[in-house]
Amino acid sequence: MDSDLIKLVNKLQDTFANLGGELDMPQLAVVGSQSAGKSSVLETIVGRDFLPRGQGIVTRRPLVLQLIHTPAPSPSSDPSSSEAPSISTYTEWGQFLHVNKRFTDFNEIRKEIEQETFRVAGQNKGISKLPINLRIYSPNVLDLTLVDLPGLTKIPVGDQPSDIERQIRNLVVDYISKPNCVILSVSAANVDLANSESLKLARTVDPQGRRTIGVLTKLDLMDAGTNANDILTGRTYPLKLGFIGVVNRSQQDINTEKPMSAALDSEQEFFATHPAYRNIAHKQGTKYLARTLNQVLMNHIRDKIPDMKARLNTLMGQAQQELSAFGDEALFGDKNQQGSIVLRLMTQFARDFVSSIDGTNFEIS
Ligand code: GDP
Ligand code: NA
Ligand code: MG
Repeated sequence: MDSDLIKLVNKLQDTFANLGGELDMPQLAVVGSQSAGKSSVLETIVGRDFLPRGQGIVTRRPLVLQLIHTPAPSPSSDPSSSEAPSISTYTEWGQFLHVNKRFTDFNEIRKEIEQETFRVAGQNKGISKLPINLRIYSPNVLDLTLVDLPGLTKIPVGDQPSDIERQIRNLVVDYISKPNCVILSVSAANVDLANSESLKLARTVDPQGRRTIGVLTKLDLMDAGTNANDILTGRTYPLKLGFIGVVNRSQQDINTEKPMSAALDSEQEFFATHPAYRNIAHKQGTKYLARTLNQVLMNHIRDKIPDMKARLNTLMGQAQQELSAFGDEALFGDKNQQGSIVLRLMTQFARDFVSSIDGTNFEIS
């Protein structure tokens, strides 16, 4: 049921995007300083390498990333399963909104993101508010919609505009100021939390800390003899949704192409054996973060259902009025044909959506 609800919301978002409209849907936005570990966190949640990496500003357009869980094929139904290439080659793929092509090679996904970034935001390290929409289908993900945003930066480098800090802040604030945005605030554990730009920015739009999740990266890089226990247990900085610690792949791990699965095992081992974290290990790490995110998103959507239902009812009423104004023959005449078909589809879609929500057990006012 939960997972069906998320799929429904994803479908609704796409429908409106294709019609050139926008619905103010709940999302999770990832915010952090450059090199805090944002891309690393996103990649380990997805379980694949696919994000552009590099020095300076790499992410220059918002990336709206929908993770969609697909069932894994049963091993018996795939006689070639023991041979290379592995099963995952066939069951994980990416699909952009801007190009009608199924990407099974995740290196190609990275290249497409880079090309799309250059195409719209230029070669010159400028940024653009226009998002790139990407869906990842995989048996290895939970259903989540994440927005990757350009890293917060203070000092322009190279040929960046002098107001790059303000530009990025404004772009990030555009996303995280929406009351229905859940903020994934990424900070590195080897930097004083008091200097965390992402927490400062999150606080300006979420002063009570009600919709911000703290993610603490680089726990493995803290000075010997220090630990982040006070932060992870909520004694340092109050966030209703709490802090979750993670250990991502180091640059060395990336250079030597350490596999994701090995990285997740090492992470688990790190928390389970660390004297300071042993007792809270079950509430740390990337897997726990992914589960928490899914739960938070579900709760968020549930809270929004009455409002979404009211909007759709309004939309449905408008579409029906316009439909009857056209008259039945307009549906088959060539002049208004396209518009009428769109209206009819939207009406049907809204009707299905509302009735499927009515079929759930959630309380709807
Ligand atoms: P972003 O700029 O916020 O997207 O950060 P990246 O994910 O690109 O990470 C920047 C650098 O920090 C990379 O070299 C990563 O390998 C490294 N890094 C990120 N998280 C961790 C971590 O938890 N531990 C260690 N040792 N390195 C990390
Ligand atoms: Na980086
Ligand atoms: Mg990055």
